Amino acid sequence: MNAAMLNTAVRAARNAGNLIKRYVDRTDLLKVSQKQPNDFVTEVDKLSEQEIIGTLSEAYPDHAFYAEESGQHNTGDEDRPMWIIDPLDGTTNFIHGIPQFAISIGMQAAGHLQVGVIYDPVHDELFTATRGDGAKLNNRRLRINPDTRLQGSLIATGFPYYQYHYLDHYLAILREVITKTSGVRRPGSAALDLAYTAAGRFDGFWEFNLQAWDIAAGTLLIQEAGGIVTDTDGGHDYLKTGNMLCGPPRVHQELLDIIRTVT
Ligand code: IPD
Ligand code: CA
Ligand code: CA
Repeated sequence: MNAAMLNTAVRAARNAGNLIKRYVDRTDLLKVSQKQPNDFVTEVDKLSEQEIIGTLSEAYPDHAFYAEESGQHNTGDEDRPMWIIDPLDGTTNFIHGIPQFAISIGMQAAGHLQVGVIYDPVHDELFTATRGDGAKLNNRRLRINPDTRLQGSLIATGFPYYQYHYLDHYLAILREVITKTSGVRRPGSAALDLAYTAAGRFDGFWEFNLQAWDIAAGTLLIQEAGGIVTDTDGGHDYLKTGNMLCGPPRVHQELLDIIRTVT
């Protein structure tokens, strides 16, 4: 069942990726609107979402959808499997012609994430996970190194960009992380940050104020690759709070200690 859903999600992500790629060199022609300060959307985000929901709902007409640009569809019955979709994660990069963005599709049923797909169409990198069956990058299995420590690590994050009431708190954490690691990156696509963490390219990630569509697929990828995902308090409400901390077990614990100390 999960394998069939994964195949459909991969098809949806690849279709949307092909669509997005057609616009990569033409971003100057795109109509860009602002949903709120510093939160942008283009026609391509919307077309990508229509493509994904079209493919998924054709295969699964009874499922529910929670997607960034069009909200909730077919919800109401809590027992229904729910697809959680970010049709273009990294829109600001996309608008600026920076090739760091992805499509993120997660599926939750029976209280658990079951399927996760993150697709980077520019680099043709497909990150996939199914619950209990591991995580993969282009069909190669991903395993997070359990021995990774904070010292010497490379950590990804997302800066606050539209709500600044927690900026001082964020900067205090950043200061600690900068001084205790090899470096910190702010690539601009939370979904890819998570996929890269599952792939061991990054050794951990934290960001406040994300949305479920940014992190649903990436959460399963990290868990299935052997990493730990919590909210920034160490709890399990990250899909609701959007405050996320993840990485290999030891790095996760060390980052959690920093966040607790700074708090
Ligand atoms: C954004 C990206 C970014 C993160 C923001 C997200 P969007 O998603 O993931 O890295 O810092 O919090 O909103 O708006 O490009 O889909
Ligand atoms: Ca996003
Ligand atoms: Ca988006």
